[in-house]
Amino acid sequence: MKQLLKTLTETYGPSGYEDAVRKVILEEVKPLADEVSVDALGNLIVRKKPSAGAKNPRKIMLAAHMDEIGVIASHVDKKGFVRFTGVGGAFGRYTLGARVRFLNGVTGVVGYDRLEQIDNWLPINKMFIDVGATSKEDCPVKVGDIAAFERAFIEMGDRLVAKSLDDRSGVVVLIETLRAIKSTPNDLYFVFTTQEEVGTRGAGTAAFGVNPDIGIAVDVTPTGDTPSSLKMVMELGKGPCVKFRDVGMISDPRVVDWMINAAEKAKIPYQREVLLVGSTDAREIQISRAGVITGALSIPCRYVHSASEMIDINDLENSVKLLTAMLSKPVAFSL
Ligand code: CO
Ligand code: ZN
Repeated sequence: MKQLLKTLTETYGPSGYEDAVRKVILEEVKPLADEVSVDALGNLIVRKKPSAGAKNPRKIMLAAHMDEIGVIASHVDKKGFVRFTGVGGAFGRYTLGARVRFLNGVTGVVGYDRLEQIDNWLPINKMFIDVGATSKEDCPVKVGDIAAFERAFIEMGDRLVAKSLDDRSGVVVLIETLRAIKSTPNDLYFVFTTQEEVGTRGAGTAAFGVNPDIGIAVDVTPTGDTPSSLKMVMELGKGPCVKFRDVGMISDPRVVDWMINAAEKAKIPYQREVLLVGSTDAREIQISRAGVITGALSIPCRYVHSASEMIDINDLENSVKLLTAMLSKPVAFSL
């Protein structure tokens, strides 16, 4: 799982440009799937059918997003400095000093206009990317070129650090869950979505196409376990988080109970999650078509949307165990 996560996080896939990530996933899931398709927005939809004789199978859509935050060039000046804007939630405080890699292979470093007074607000429109050019003519970056953070995957014991753990860790959890499920009474759709970071766009079209009975998004969640963090209970290494609420959704209590009961029965550690910032694909799935019974399972993650996000390997493994336990049995509640 670690090796696959390293490969996935060292692949570039800013929103709308998820092709390279999709290729890595496709290689993994092809031998495990009954059906594979890609829709117009680039969502990769992987079906595992119910085993023969399954009664009244429920259509369950799991979603993890392939895309990551990035930046896009908006202007190149006479000296070849590239102005840019964020693709998704690229924060100034994390972007300054970062290295970025454009999809054409060009790397650059992010610099900052000199200000009379530096306060703690670092607006992205005062930043630029220096790709080593000396003029507009020799600048290898054009307006519209897109980039993501460049950063290698590292291990610190059980803690794993990389760019785009949001949400390649969810991607790896879905792949390993698909691998672990031997048979299921359910009709499972593992969906690797696009354009989550720019507003959960892929999940919307995917949910419309799949038309599931139940939806579960698997994504990272910020924690409350670092100095002066928000007062939230989620911690690294304490188990996957059962989402109750975030800014975009209230989880369906039936899905919450399903997750908690499965975790307790299988003695898998879990945490209760009320997230004060952000949302996930689950929001979009829940309100698609005439509505879908939806919840979310989250992987605790520090420094979300920085080039060095951090998770704990045990939370990944327990997420796989929990989803495998849930999906291998009939759904406990009626629709
Ligand atoms: Co994100
Ligand atoms: Zn995410």
